[in-house]
Amino acid sequence: MAAEAIASVFLEEMLHMTLAANVLNAVAGSPVLDSPEFMLRYPAYLPHSADAFLVPLARFSRATVDTFMKIEKPESDHAPAEIDRFHTIGQFYLAIEEALPRLCAELGETTVFSGDPARQVTPEHLPYRGSGRIIPVYDLKSALAAIDEIEEQGEGLKHNEVWDGDRDMFHPDRDEVAHYFRFHELVVGRAYQRGDNAVSGPTGTAFETDWDAVFPMRDNPRSTDFPEGSPIRAKMQAFNLVYSDVLRQLHLVFNGHPEDMFASISGMMELKTLAVELMQMPTGDGATTAGPSFEYVPRSAATSAGPRGFTVTVRRNGPYVVEGGLPLSRKSIVYSEWHEPMTWRKDADFPERQVYRLCRCGLSAHKPFCDNSHVRAAFDGTEDPPAGTSDERREVAVTEHITVSDDRVLCTRAGFCGNRVTNVWAELEQVSDSRVRFDMIQRIERCPSGRLTYALKDGPVEPDLPKAIAATKDGPYMVTGGIPVTLSDGRTLEVRNRVMLCRCGQSSSKPLCDGTHFAIKFREG
Ligand code: FES
Repeated sequence: MAAEAIASVFLEEMLHMTLAANVLNAVAGSPVLDSPEFMLRYPAYLPHSADAFLVPLARFSRATVDTFMKIEKPESDHAPAEIDRFHTIGQFYLAIEEALPRLCAELGETTVFSGDPARQVTPEHLPYRGSGRIIPVYDLKSALAAIDEIEEQGEGLKHNEVWDGDRDMFHPDRDEVAHYFRFHELVVGRAYQRGDNAVSGPTGTAFETDWDAVFPMRDNPRSTDFPEGSPIRAKMQAFNLVYSDVLRQLHLVFNGHPEDMFASISGMMELKTLAVELMQMPTGDGATTAGPSFEYVPRSAATSAGPRGFTVTVRRNGPYVVEGGLPLSRKSIVYSEWHEPMTWRKDADFPERQVYRLCRCGLSAHKPFCDNSHVRAAFDGTEDPPAGTSDERREVAVTEHITVSDDRVLCTRAGFCGNRVTNVWAELEQVSDSRVRFDMIQRIERCPSGRLTYALKDGPVEPDLPKAIAATKDGPYMVTGGIPVTLSDGRTLEVRNRVMLCRCGQSSSKPLCDGTHFAIKFREG
């Protein structure tokens, strides 16, 4: 019962944030989530509240539920609207409810609701399975409906009933109790039933809550409580990085990219896994375990160094996080009737996304996107790219007409270097024939990993490739155009024009592909 109450409130609070963002966008505002100011340092007072009580970051307990009830407390009858220094969140929303009609009367509804409708998150953007509904906001009526939904789920229908007007997400045959009263049920140990109200309290089925069946998480943990390099600090940093990524992604969702809403969910699921792992790590004081600290991690200078800010970042034992709106497509190799690779074909473009997470373990059911399968599978994504620079590793063949260099460790077995009758090395013997040279150059330029490169008299030549990433059919990700790839420890791979990143999860030189996907017969699914 307690777990269901917390989970349902959590989901509905996500709905509330979406509805609040829709209202703000409808009046031409801009929600800000990707900012250190967005994060509270716990214990903290609620922003813009009257500082009546501190909110700690703490384990589930009677005290925590008491704090939840203070947050969700319905405003008393005739309580004044308060946009700042509010006493209840209801009074904060009441102020907005009062201001919107007044502004519409003064300025005109179309002037007030002048935001770009394309910024609205709609039910099509998110298959929301909790109670309540996503309401896109275009005018006063829909704005008031959105605010009503937030208020009723938090405090109750018409602010004097315990019910919120929705169906219970875990028990759709039942009416749903508003958040404040859901927590009250836990305190009393009894469920509300029809006929109950705020005065009667719950009179339905009695139930027990095992208040001790929780990890003994330390109150208000901070990553700096633990030494740099310690397992707890590393895990907290991993949590904070994913949390900040989720905030960055949601910031973009609410600022013109509502189509990316669904893609933000895998990060949220990863947060849960990391939080549970943290809460099982003893802090060493003999009594408590660690926990998530929800600290802001800015996008590092290292990962923002690419052209137009395109970056690919490897998450430890997790996915690739691609930022900056790097175009993503599907590509496949075109083969001859002899199964000889001839060229590359673009099969499809994905819709533009500012931030997305690509599967690295090979197990996602939604390839190429991550669906958190790496967590369930305890994916070992150990990164072990080749040492040194490609130039240091290359074997070079110099001829009068062309110089060919070969960095074997980059090979992904794509096979463009040869066919039934010849290959680049055999062609080196005949490069005085420009037809042979032409064929050789085609082969080298199609080599997707950059294992093979060439130079002419006036210097090295690289194919003119777009800044992009492609999920190749049953193979690796092809990253082109000199995109920086940052490892999970912060090091950046040598920036090259052609890089193939493993997506089968089995390369021995991860994150680079080493051709293992052929051996294991990796399939897109
Ligand atoms: S995709 Fe090539 S080795 Fe994994």
